[in-house]
Amino acid sequence: MHVLGIDIGGFGIKGALVDVKRGTLVTEPLCLPTPTSAKPEEMALVVRDLCEHFQWHGITGAGFPAVVKKGVVTTAANIHSSWIGVNAENLFHETTGLSMHVLNDADAAGIAEMKFGAGKEFQNNVVILLTLGTGIGSAIFVNGILLPNTEFGHLQIRGRDAEKRASGAAKTREGLSWKAWSKRLLEFLIEMEKLFSPDLFIISGGVSKQTEEFFPYLKTATQLAPAQFFNQAGIVGAAMHAGQKASTS
Ligand code: BGC
Repeated sequence: MHVLGIDIGGFGIKGALVDVKRGTLVTEPLCLPTPTSAKPEEMALVVRDLCEHFQWHGITGAGFPAVVKKGVVTTAANIHSSWIGVNAENLFHETTGLSMHVLNDADAAGIAEMKFGAGKEFQNNVVILLTLGTGIGSAIFVNGILLPNTEFGHLQIRGRDAEKRASGAAKTREGLSWKAWSKRLLEFLIEMEKLFSPDLFIISGGVSKQTEEFFPYLKTATQLAPAQFFNQAGIVGAAMHAGQKASTS
């Protein structure tokens, strides 16, 4: 079954058609810039452009960079605050005409990595996936079951949100070396270890293509793995989630 998967992020809105049974992209992905306002209507128009590019009329899933409960956005760390309370599924439906299943972006990435990627051999374990992009997204799986909408990136480290210090964007913004940035990331991972005693950390997001630059600095007790889908995990997982919702409704 093919499903359109969309990953909505702070910098880009990207998508591709996904074969959800195999966990593979069946088209080249397209990435359009996220409008700088990051307001609902403007972002919805970009989502529409993406759907039109693929001339898509079928099932669609979207990962979204916030807590999403039953389609409703309830937080707004890296998007405009007017998103809070908006039913993203309804808004995207009105703009695109498609029925859309929306979930947190890191949860989407986690779903793909647990089924087809770095987490597939860890079905009887505690796995934490972290996306290190504009913010830090998180997904935790216990014996393969997702606890949705965790927000570990907002854990306070040295009095600041972990994501303000250790996201991929923080590295770029502050011009940090891999070593300096890894030190911050390690502090965060150690905090996660204290709280959850995970068996595996999966590192996703743009930096997951360069893990050889920083994994050597991360002396965690927990095993570390790069996301196998790199930064396409969100697209694949959003499509898988929508495919599953459509088949159970
Ligand atoms: C948001 C999360 C999101 C993460 C990655 C954070 O700022 O609070 O919901 O998963 O960024 O986009």
